[in-house]
Amino acid sequence: MRVTHLELRNFRNYGSLNLDFENNLTVIQGTNGSGKTNLAEAVYYLSLAKSWRTNECQALIRYGEDHASIKAKVEENGLKREIEIFILGKGRKISINGKPARKLSELSKLVNVTLFSPEDVLIFKGSPSDRRSFLDTSLSKKSLDYFNLIGKYNRLLLERNAALKAEKVDLTLIQVLTDELIAVSEPISRYRRLYIDDLNKVLSDLASELYGHDRRLLVVYKPFIRNESAWKEEAAKAYKRSLDSDIIHKSTSIGIHREDFSLMLDGQDIALYGSQGENRLAAIALKIAPFFLIEDKEKRPIVVLDDVYSELDAEHTKRLSSLITKHLNQVFVTATRANIEGASVIEVSENKAIRR
Ligand SMILES: Nc1ncnc2c1ncn2[C@@H]1O[C@H](COP(=O)(O)OP(=O)(O)O)[C@@H](O)[C@H]1O
Ligand SMILES: [Mg+2]
Repeated sequence: MRVTHLELRNFRNYGSLNLDFENNLTVIQGTNGSGKTNLAEAVYYLSLAKSWRTNECQALIRYGEDHASIKAKVEENGLKREIEIFILGKGRKISINGKPARKLSELSKLVNVTLFSPEDVLIFKGSPSDRRSFLDTSLSKKSLDYFNLIGKYNRLLLERNAALKAEKVDLTLIQVLTDELIAVSEPISRYRRLYIDDLNKVLSDLASELYGHDRRLLVVYKPFIRNESAWKEEAAKAYKRSLDSDIIHKSTSIGIHREDFSLMLDGQDIALYGSQGENRLAAIALKIAPFFLIEDKEKRPIVVLDDVYSELDAEHTKRLSSLITKHLNQVFVTATRANIEGASVIEVSENKAIRR
């Protein structure tokens, strides 16, 4: 998929803006505070009708105005569609080909945008919950079943924790909830393991392309239960062992909500031994790896790299760019300065964006 045309009215600092995108790699360039991220945000907004920077619609509307709009033409496998989103002080209205959209998912099917911000490079050095959230988000996009399972798991976990916090602990209730937790945990864990196996099929090739020579990049899953053939039995035993301590601490200390993974570059944990640059590239590789599992290149999501390029050296910038052009449909890169061969450049300044 790709966005071929974008029109903004009163969106952030832009009063009125019309842009066509032809090239698959577009660099949005400008000084600090000129509106690069705002433009990237408009592209991102097309996929979820939501920004990653704010939950307030008002923040997206140009100061002093009462509404904003984003109009876009998107294309996939020759199919062209027009999307229009009106952003009002409270809420928004979405239409696709002139008809009101009933569900948000109609939008996400047409435009899928993956954002990469500087914080994302910390995924391996960050907390396990950041890594789980990467797994949960990308797996949920791939499988509705997984999305539902995670929802169910989280509800059950809340219930079990509430039961552990009760003044008089009801052991029968806790047992029922534990059994239900185990029942949804097993498929979640299986999804995660298979997904990580899939990622590992493409990660080393991707890393070698990014680093410029043969490298082995592997995700190592740290599962709650290792024994796949006796998963439920092992899980039941583990919950039994931790029951007393869970009651004392009034919270569920074990389970798939505590799982983690690490990334090994040539056999070494990248969080512990990798350089800044290696961490950055590995994080990019991990995040775009799922797209390489999508056979039909046309269906691969649009990528927005906000302020990520500025921190790479010239050689790796070049490698990342050539990888992007080869394997992805459309990528937007924001940078204060970027000299990227073959990219089209949009210069942002004074609330305007001009193609150079
Ligand atoms: N709702 C808004 N109306 C007008 N200007 C806005 C609005 N929201 C943010 N801005 C302006 O946008 C600028 C920041 O743009 P941004 O895209 O984040 O810059 P950068 O080019 O550094 O990524 C700031 O000057 C801010 O005042
Ligand atoms: Mg910015």
